[in-house]
Amino acid sequence: MEISMMEEIKKAELEGKEQDVYILAIESSCDETAASVVKNGRTVLSNVISSQIALHTLYGGVVPEIASRKHIEKINQVIESALEEAHMELDQMTAIAVTYGPGLVGALLVGVAEAKAIAYAAKKPLVGVHHIEGHVSANFIEHPDLEPPFVCLIVSGGHTHLVIVKDYGEFEIIGRTRDDAAGEAFDKVARAVGLGYPGGPKVDKTAKEGNPHAIEFPRGKVEGSPYDFSFSGLKSCVLNYINHAKMMGEEIYVPDLVASFQNSVVDSLVSRAVMAAKEYGYDKLAIAGGVASNSALRAGMKAACKKAGLSFYYPSPIFCTDNAAMIGVAGYYEYMKGTRSGWDLNAVPNLKLGER
Ligand code: KG4
Ligand code: ZN
Repeated sequence: MEISMMEEIKKAELEGKEQDVYILAIESSCDETAASVVKNGRTVLSNVISSQIALHTLYGGVVPEIASRKHIEKINQVIESALEEAHMELDQMTAIAVTYGPGLVGALLVGVAEAKAIAYAAKKPLVGVHHIEGHVSANFIEHPDLEPPFVCLIVSGGHTHLVIVKDYGEFEIIGRTRDDAAGEAFDKVARAVGLGYPGGPKVDKTAKEGNPHAIEFPRGKVEGSPYDFSFSGLKSCVLNYINHAKMMGEEIYVPDLVASFQNSVVDSLVSRAVMAAKEYGYDKLAIAGGVASNSALRAGMKAACKKAGLSFYYPSPIFCTDNAAMIGVAGYYEYMKGTRSGWDLNAVPNLKLGER
């Protein structure tokens, strides 16, 4: 039964070889239920995102059980809207792409099960996509000229990686965080000063009213690993600063505190990314992931790249945080390489970059 179905799909693929490639992409790895239709890997025909942020704000962070349930409630509606906005039918899709890791297992499973059901029913090939490969691929949406190889700094809620994108979907990791991810540090500091969840955007906004040089926080270094990051020391310094002020009965000016914290994070990220591009001999540098929408990081990176003679690439904020368009782009390149997932595709919560 399964073999004949796979053969049927392959036959249909061969018949449609010369035609445009339309990917229906699904993303549900954390707290956004998203679907998108992407044409030929670079043109986003629709990008529907149902965010659960308001719901999780009540608890100060993502509650996995609630995230899974909300995905189940929303996913059909989100997919229908994505097809409608693209003015296309499911039958016109070339393949179904879905994030299968890394992420919250229950949340991922909703997208994976849905994608499998759709692909099976519509007799379409299924392509499992790595969430971080998706984040990197967001850069291809608005930069038709960007092609590998280039250096990419990936900064999200769960990841901080410095990589060389050798080809589509091929990465060499040259640096990573030894402790907290950059986004995690933003979220923890935001919580400590009472800005709430989600921390990153709130710190970004509040920091605009503060002086980034008001407090001299350390830049985390990892001895002997020039491209690795460390943010837990910085986080402790911020917490100590707050506790000390409380003990002394001193008032804290939050905008100065978060602007100084942000400045330290941005400094660490920019200096390593630019150094990597120069030392490895690449003239293109990109950023990706939720933290890539941070205004200070974008400004710092832009200035440093200009000074170093590097071309700087960054996605619009809507393509930095979780979305399905980036999964559609990555799914397209995987599809063109011949990547196909079986009906046994499963969620892999701790999927490593470069693994399948
Ligand atoms: O990529 P993403 O949407 O989800 C993951 O794959 O993790 O990243 C979410 C992270 C959160 O930690 C959030 O606080 C952070 O990205 N973030 C920001 C900004 N917008 C989102 N951090 C700093 N500045 C921002 N403007
Ligand atoms: Zn993400």
